[in-house]
Amino acid sequence: MGIIGAGPAGLTLARLLETAGIETVVLENRSREYVEHRQRAGLLEQGTVDLLTELGVAERLHREGLVHTGLSLQFDGERHRIPLTELSGGKHVTIYAQTEIVKDLVAARQESGLPLLFEAEAYALEGLDGERPLIRYRREGGEHELECDIVAGCDGFHGIARPSIPDQVVRTFSREYPYAWLGIIAQAPPSNDELIYAHSARGFALLSMRSPSVGRLYLQVRPDERIEEWPDERIWEELHARLGLPGWSLVEGPITEKGVAPMRSFVSEPLSFGRLYLAGDAGHIVPPTGAKGLNLAINDVRLLGEAIVRWHESGSRDLLDAYSAACLRRVWRAEHFSWWMTTMLHKLPDGDPFDEQLQLSQLRYVASSEAAARTLAENYVGYEPPTR
Ligand code: FAD
Ligand code: DHB
Repeated sequence: MGIIGAGPAGLTLARLLETAGIETVVLENRSREYVEHRQRAGLLEQGTVDLLTELGVAERLHREGLVHTGLSLQFDGERHRIPLTELSGGKHVTIYAQTEIVKDLVAARQESGLPLLFEAEAYALEGLDGERPLIRYRREGGEHELECDIVAGCDGFHGIARPSIPDQVVRTFSREYPYAWLGIIAQAPPSNDELIYAHSARGFALLSMRSPSVGRLYLQVRPDERIEEWPDERIWEELHARLGLPGWSLVEGPITEKGVAPMRSFVSEPLSFGRLYLAGDAGHIVPPTGAKGLNLAINDVRLLGEAIVRWHESGSRDLLDAYSAACLRRVWRAEHFSWWMTTMLHKLPDGDPFDEQLQLSQLRYVASSEAAARTLAENYVGYEPPTR
């Protein structure tokens, strides 16, 4: 199997196939250093933790991960706790950074002595509708090819796998949002034990964390915002204004990372073509509110891994043929949930007062109705849609 991309999707798929004795080569165009330090997501659904545990790569995750049983929504100057575990039949979420998952998976792959080629850029896919597809890639100044049975396109939103599917068979769906997230890592103990999603007149803010001594915080900003416009003092000032409450204040600390991430919703259907299968951001993107991106990527490869193992062991293609449709059911649930969380919590830049009242009404409803809170909780911890 040829796997393009050593993000969470590609590395987890490689590990899954390794446990079934299936040979894989992983090609990654960046360096190991780069993929292990790219700051992104940090909130894992229980199903994600369970899969990493089954794959024997969660020892540090269980030691260092922070288990959360609830979160807070903040609006109208008040904080309301949503007891996720109580409302979801006992499930919880875990804070453990994507960078750490990637480090654990890379270390496991290297320990197994299996091929993971960094700075290897896939640039063309050929023969996808035949029996032996080919990946062409560049490495160390030379051009190489990898012939395989199956190509897994785990190369993220800007990769080459999705654009290799002929336009005539693809349908795409997308939504752009008039805002982005400025994210920071702060060397300061998180000021709250659980996450706070804050709606405010100045825009959305999120308090999250990476460990008992490191905070992860986000601010809604303009999509074209330049990070240079945000010296550290301005970031703290804005975080205080959006998250602060009488009697509660944010603890500041040195900012060691900052960056602006765009927000979009995107789905490309189907997630397969011939012997190419897309997984993770290569096939779909969600805005980050609700933390679904990484969890969807892991779920995709769980399904893809099972399908490849079945084909390898029995010759049956049934799960491979059903892969795209099976994935898309969960993808669309997460698309809706992420869109809903995003539009409920972010301030529209043109300040439409009708929209603002709808948001506040929805927030009050979630904070006061157990049925509405349960809907949020069930989706947040990871909803498994029926298979048909
Ligand atoms: P990726 O992690 O993107 O991995 C794809 C890999 O493929 C990359 O390592 C890339 O270098 C490699 N690649 C690309 N092209 C090629 C090629 N031609 N040849 C070889 N290799 C190639 N989600 C959340 O839930 N919460 C967040 O706060 C959050 N923040 C984010 C911030 C940013 C800036 C971004 C971009 C995403 C964020 N996400 C967040 C989403 C989440 O991180 C992704 O959903 C997750 O990384 C998906 O994993 P993946 O393995 O599918 O893709
Ligand atoms: C984090 C990111 C999210 O998008 C989210 O909804 C919750 C937490 C995080 O990076 O910690």
